[in-house]
Amino acid sequence: MRATIHSLRKMKQDGTPISVLTCYDYTSAKILDSAGIPVLLVGDSLGMVVHGFESTLPVTLEMMLMHGQAVARGAKSALIVLDLPFATYSAADVSLSLKNAARGLAEGGAQAVKIEGGARIAPVVNALVASGIPVMGHIGLTPQSIHQIGGYRVQGKDEPGRRRLLADALELESAGAFAVVLELVPDDLAQQITQRLKIPTIGIGAGPHCDGQVQVFHDVFGLYEDFVPKHTRRYTEGANAIRDAAKQFKKDVEARKFP
Ligand code: KIV
Repeated sequence: MRATIHSLRKMKQDGTPISVLTCYDYTSAKILDSAGIPVLLVGDSLGMVVHGFESTLPVTLEMMLMHGQAVARGAKSALIVLDLPFATYSAADVSLSLKNAARGLAEGGAQAVKIEGGARIAPVVNALVASGIPVMGHIGLTPQSIHQIGGYRVQGKDEPGRRRLLADALELESAGAFAVVLELVPDDLAQQITQRLKIPTIGIGAGPHCDGQVQVFHDVFGLYEDFVPKHTRRYTEGANAIRDAAKQFKKDVEARKFP
């Protein structure tokens, strides 16, 4: 049976930590699904780790839909959450946001969408949820606003910032979000938000007190070498393993040992 937004809420109530990994293709989805990962996020981080862009900003809805479809073909048990990319949603145009989010479910194979921002996008969350589209929020460091934020750094370090993030989290919950990602938020603030919310918090660089943890596939499997975030733990050195295997393949071909 597929994980649902309700089973995630139950996991929070039961104190069962929620594991979330990003996923962008069929083969990886099959592997992660068979490993029992309950939530796969088709994250717009694919802009960097799959397509080699410098940020998530050039990612289009069409790209997200194509990757979502591939993940959906591979994952039969995980809840699939699809990121709505930059400038495809906004409180200034709720009907466009609704149209794009609906495509995420109707065409992208997802059961939910994720959007970045707090109070400012609460009207969008409200409208999507009212139309039957489950929404995961995302606050703290929101990569789609990187030029406004001015760099990839911890958010909510001063008192006004902390108050704003707590208020954002509460607004997202009131608007109907089923979970909220906390990215690069101080541990104690993430703990406070987690205690205040009934919906699960999913941390990335937000310490151990969140209800769940999300990591980027290419980071935890040691595949992405351009940049290694401080909050990542590499569970395998995938790039090295593939490079060594590729060298061995070349050697065997050159020595006529393969085939
Ligand atoms: O796109 C992504 O991978 C994300 C996670 C970092 C939460 O949004």
